[in-house]
Amino acid sequence: MPGPHASPRRRPVPGRLFAAALIALALAAALVLAFAGMTDRAHAAEPSDTDGGAMIAAADPRAVEAGLAILRAGGTAADAAVAVQAVLTLVEPQSSGLGGGAFAVHYDAGSGTVTTYDGRETAPMAADASLFLEDDGRPMAFLEAVTGGRSVGTPGTVRLLERLHADHGVRPWESLFADAAALARDGFRVSPRLAGYLASPVGNRLRADPAASAVFFADGDPPAAGDRLANPALAETFSRLAEDGPDAFYEGPIADAVVAAVRDHPTNLGLMTAEDLAAYRAMERAPVCVPYRARRVCGMGPPSSGGIAIGQILTLLAHEGRIVQGPDSAMAREALINAMMLAYADRSAWLGDADIVEVPVDGLLDPRYLARRHGLIATGGAIDAPAPAGLPPGAPRHAAPAESEDRAGTSHISIRDAAGNMLSMTGSIEGPFGAGIMAAGFMLNNELTDFDFLPLVNGRLVPNRVGPGKRPLSSMSPTLVLDADGRAIMAVGSPGGRAIIGYTAQTLVALLDWDLPPAAAVAVPHVLNLNGPTYVEVGADGDRIAESLAARGHRIERTDRLVSGLNILVVTPDGAVTGAADPRREGVARAP
Ligand code: DON
Repeated sequence: MPGPHASPRRRPVPGRLFAAALIALALAAALVLAFAGMTDRAHAAEPSDTDGGAMIAAADPRAVEAGLAILRAGGTAADAAVAVQAVLTLVEPQSSGLGGGAFAVHYDAGSGTVTTYDGRETAPMAADASLFLEDDGRPMAFLEAVTGGRSVGTPGTVRLLERLHADHGVRPWESLFADAAALARDGFRVSPRLAGYLASPVGNRLRADPAASAVFFADGDPPAAGDRLANPALAETFSRLAEDGPDAFYEGPIADAVVAAVRDHPTNLGLMTAEDLAAYRAMERAPVCVPYRARRVCGMGPPSSGGIAIGQILTLLAHEGRIVQGPDSAMAREALINAMMLAYADRSAWLGDADIVEVPVDGLLDPRYLARRHGLIATGGAIDAPAPAGLPPGAPRHAAPAESEDRAGTSHISIRDAAGNMLSMTGSIEGPFGAGIMAAGFMLNNELTDFDFLPLVNGRLVPNRVGPGKRPLSSMSPTLVLDADGRAIMAVGSPGGRAIIGYTAQTLVALLDWDLPPAAAVAVPHVLNLNGPTYVEVGADGDRIAESLAARGHRIERTDRLVSGLNILVVTPDGAVTGAADPRREGVARAP
């Protein structure tokens, strides 16, 4: 059964090697297995509580502990984020890291300001709209595009961390890598989730990459859960970064290793050059904020679609009295499903890198436009999929509906420090283990496959087409919620490809409309619509919802692949801080 993470079917390219088709099939099967194997709920994280202070929620306890050590030493949320992301690069190499990109939404308690940072990967300057096209103009098969140098975008995570640290950090940069370097040198215990991925075909493909193979298959077999795994090359990278600063990533031996891995790939050459790396900049962007239930919900603008799509969903729901009926109500779920459908339709039609294509950000969030859009769903009941995109004020005439591709490979971090600064940051290498190639101890992303492969659909230019220096459209949705006094009170976000928007929106509704505590909010069964069928998470809790939605005419697909990884923090009205990590993955929420 296809799930929301599955790639849309693409026509096979005549004349391609039969072997390539077989590899693609094997990888597709591997991804299905990997997802299916990753859904057990044995690793549920305990919610944590603390009095008015600091807390971190992230995908791995070692990463959380490294961040807490920084907070205990007087560091800020921004300082802790560097340490958390460094350790995640090591212990969760399938998901995020130095070889990828990230977005961060930061609240500064001193000034009361929200700043958003864009560390999204960029396409090489030599890339153009034909990057993922065959000679005959047809799109490459998705899985053929992923592995190798072609899909690798110029990594942005290190420049993002540099800006966060420069703007909001207080601890010395070099002190932030100590735990990550020690763990990489001495080894860490492999988690069940990493062991599962390495043992699946999606991990097995890493054997073809000598650097990755030397780390993950040094003894021939993949490591079992609990085995100790060292990564000396990554320990060396952490030491260089600590001693020489962030520039050491973008020029010199680390940069050389990245360029060589991309350009010298034996079967799928990439275009990234030393100049692309040296020119990379993390950008400060305008936050995308909407009012909702006497709060302000702030997220990431383009090149992420997250802030706009979630802003649309919530603005549509502001018209919906039925949403308050709670997670077991088919009426509430229907309101959310229908709002998601409209938002995903606009996402496909209008969103891309706003530095390069025209994106009608204000028009898409215009309350009058969304009030008109709400007319399509106001009477309730199921609406036909796909819902059409709207024509927001200021819309250019360029867009055509298009689909992006998604793979597991993302991680969300939420941090609050004792001063009340809050950070919501999502990082990604796109698919599990990214492009399947390692440089200087870290996996390189395949984020360029987030571009739409076809630049032209029905004679109209697709906004998310490949272009030189362009950033591919993302669904990552790091989000902060501010109270009526403008103070940050919630940090929310998740991995999950395009489904991130739905997971995050549902969790915001669970917190703001259903008044659920964090642990319950992240555990609510997912009901998700990406502008097609409605996916309902398997499990007894979903049965009733699935039945009542089906009775109301919704096309339901049950699936065990809605593997969100929500890591959230909430400040309660009395000032206590609570947090929770998603029971579907291995994360924890802990106080110092
Ligand atoms: O930026 C994006 O939207 C995707 N590259 C994220 C991929 C993802 O979340 C896979 N996760 N589990």
